[in-house]
Amino acid sequence: RIVYVNGAWVDETEAKVSVFDRGFLFADAIYEVTAVVGGKLVGYAGHAERLKRSLDSIGIPHPFTDESLLALHREILARNNLTDGAIYLQISRGAEDRDFFYSDDLTPTFVMFTQARPVLDNPKWKTGIAVITMPEGRWANRQIKTVQLLYSSLSKMEAKRQGADDVLFVEDGVITESGSSNAHIITKDGTLVTRALSNALLHGITRASILDVARNAQIKVEERGFTPEEALEAAEVFISSAGAFVMPVVSIDGKAIGDGKPGPMTARLRDLYIEYEL
Ligand code: PDD
Repeated sequence: RIVYVNGAWVDETEAKVSVFDRGFLFADAIYEVTAVVGGKLVGYAGHAERLKRSLDSIGIPHPFTDESLLALHREILARNNLTDGAIYLQISRGAEDRDFFYSDDLTPTFVMFTQARPVLDNPKWKTGIAVITMPEGRWANRQIKTVQLLYSSLSKMEAKRQGADDVLFVEDGVITESGSSNAHIITKDGTLVTRALSNALLHGITRASILDVARNAQIKVEERGFTPEEALEAAEVFISSAGAFVMPVVSIDGKAIGDGKPGPMTARLRDLYIEYEL
């Protein structure tokens, strides 16, 4: 792969970042993942806006303009002949000798790479996924897309050890989100329920588009928290992200949702979402 590192295009084997990079030492970095389908960037405008919000919220200057950021996304696709997969980008505060206190004038480290994979042909869509619940253990500012992903990674590994695919984090009895996706339910009366935006969860770009398509299709939407018990009683449960799009959840902690198969509303929302974005 050809990757982008601080203004240069290099082979992945030649790419270098300092051992003093604050992204590496302190997880002092922001990232974004944008799906690519048929050469098209999915939800690009939302990802670009959220990137700027994340950087602003921890005071990292933008090492790009609106035009150059879009041009970099197009160029990395072209240089790697990528049609289906994802673009990962990460911007750290920069590098300097290790110190909790940082200088104001650091130059951000900006890297981008691609990951090729079939996005639309995910076999898990047919079967749905199994999730386990875990106590919420991440920091409190989850609306900021930082690379501080250790708890999420350990939780997903625990799910895997238990034969499941992902997790639902629970805080004060209410589901915050999934390991790397937002979580939603469809109640037995056909209402889409998803947690309202706050610092408790990442403001998913896929989530926002799903709410748009649901409202356009006259599906009733409620933005409020829901408990694991309500999710177990729901008609359907699904998660959403740039990686998974709309992914049915068929069991929680080994207990089946409905008949334990992906439901029709989730399939419909997924179709509507794909039509809306592509
Ligand atoms: N994850 N919540 C969390 C904790 C996430 O990490 C993500 C995305 C989402 C969904 O956001 P979006 O729809 O904008 O992708 C929600 C990315 C894909 C990742 O970490 O790989």
